[in-house]
Amino acid sequence: MARHLITSAIPYINGIKHLGNLVGSQLPADLYARFQRGRGNEVLFLCATDEHGTPAELAAAKAGKPVAEYCAEMHAVQSKIAEGFRLSFDHFGRSSSEQNKVLTQHFAGRLAEAGLIREVSEKQVYSNTDGRFLPDRYIEGTCPNCGYDKARGDQCENCTKQLDPTDLIDPRSAISGSTDLEVRETKHLYLCQSQMKDQLEEWIDTREGWPILTTSIAKKWLTDGDGLQDRGITRDLAWGVPVKKGTEDWPGMEGKVFYVWFDAPIEYIAAAQEWVDAGKGTDWERWWRTDKGADDVRYTQFMGKDNVPFHTLSFPATILGSGEPWKLVDYIKSFNYLNYDGGQFSTSQGRGVFMDQALEILPADYWRWWLLSHAPESSDSEFTWENFQTSVNKDLADVLGNFVSRVTKFCRSKFSEAVPEGGAYGPREEALIETLSTRIRAYEAHMEAMDVRKSAGELRAIWVAGNEYLQDAAPWTTFKTDPEAAAMQIRLALNLIRLYAVLSAPFIPDASAQMMEAMQTEDGSWPDDVPAALQLLTPGHAFTVPDVTFRKISDEEREGWQERFSGLRS
Ligand code: MF3
Ligand code: ZN
Repeated sequence: MARHLITSAIPYINGIKHLGNLVGSQLPADLYARFQRGRGNEVLFLCATDEHGTPAELAAAKAGKPVAEYCAEMHAVQSKIAEGFRLSFDHFGRSSSEQNKVLTQHFAGRLAEAGLIREVSEKQVYSNTDGRFLPDRYIEGTCPNCGYDKARGDQCENCTKQLDPTDLIDPRSAISGSTDLEVRETKHLYLCQSQMKDQLEEWIDTREGWPILTTSIAKKWLTDGDGLQDRGITRDLAWGVPVKKGTEDWPGMEGKVFYVWFDAPIEYIAAAQEWVDAGKGTDWERWWRTDKGADDVRYTQFMGKDNVPFHTLSFPATILGSGEPWKLVDYIKSFNYLNYDGGQFSTSQGRGVFMDQALEILPADYWRWWLLSHAPESSDSEFTWENFQTSVNKDLADVLGNFVSRVTKFCRSKFSEAVPEGGAYGPREEALIETLSTRIRAYEAHMEAMDVRKSAGELRAIWVAGNEYLQDAAPWTTFKTDPEAAAMQIRLALNLIRLYAVLSAPFIPDASAQMMEAMQTEDGSWPDDVPAALQLLTPGHAFTVPDVTFRKISDEEREGWQERFSGLRS
């Protein structure tokens, strides 16, 4: 039995995520976790909310709540929505946990001992009105690159250029709007990534089979300009992990916290501790420490492409720099962006469909199927309502749903609500079984390789093969002249429903559970042996006719939603 540690990039706490966020990390990670569990492997699947930094502080201020309270509430909200989408995390942690605080301070201490942290005195914007420094998003102004007048201190959302707060033209405080700003000296810690360039480069070069999207981004950062830069890992903020060297105070760093991107990936480890402390597991070190059994763990991370530099360089620098035997990632699966109906999804502008809204409209499986079968892998992809309607109606309702309903209803009306006997499989059945065997092996290979779209395509082809068989065998016609043969065809078809439930579970878990229930079986074993899997439900085994598995989306509905989601969410 293989052991898989799987993490999804941890979503920011500030508000509900949109479908583009979902398909870029959490959903494909869930697909892979479910697949590995389905194949009988041991899985630890972790995610959390990313709670520190300016986005959290600003969102809390906007909501008029203390930031800790805001985060606790939003964590509960995000957690509930994750359940709604059937994201099967073993634990959904919080980067503001005590475990993460201790671990983050521990890593900083180790890095300092290794001589990999230096203190830098630098100039930062200070707001006299607000009585505080204005890092990152706390400052707004005009972008020096494109002229956009709402650029933030860390990045211009319009042209995506990375900025420093001091680059902005006509800067103002994002808290008070005040322009009474001055530049003051403040001391910060820098992680000496430049010293680790060779070590990181060697590590990346020896990763086998990494996707080009991942390695090319890492390489670019390693070699562009003057090469890998040292990175500030502290901020003048109140909310975050207080700067400490292990358990000791750090002279001169009083009142400062670690930068959110320093503590967030460490939460991947802390989440495993939280999982144990919550009583859901017994041993987190066998997943994370190579001296405690984690050397035979395969660790896979899922994320959007904007997260790649932090996972290929910064976080490995933290881990390698600590000199301790922590597990490093084995494979990084990264995604391009999903666009929304001719533009971009945008959290700050409220453009697109958000996770809570999606679940109000339709159950999770509809979204999961569309999103995964259109995952932005080789390039950006686009959500349109027409395309969504077509996929749901064709793949889910016409192909899969229709198969389940025709087979079970026909059997009930002509035989009974039990698997009929019939004779042995004939040449048509043997041919189908062979096609299915080939396709199922291909499906496994694509899933194993995390080729999400190809996996969806293969699964769809597996459904289609069953439909074509049914169309061809036409038991409703056969029945008139040869009821024995019709019985055998239906026995096979009922077994196919169970097989489909097992294979489809990673994509559409609810429909899959419904199909298993209708077939009145709990045997979800993976079809390593396809002919045997298609004999599993034996003559006389009772089943029930399920309610509609997937319904169609009407043109009126589609138009209504298109209209409702054409504007911006307030
Ligand atoms: N919160 C970040 C985002 O949504 C992702 C953080 S991933 C981690 O882009 F590595 F920091 F954990
Ligand atoms: Zn710009």
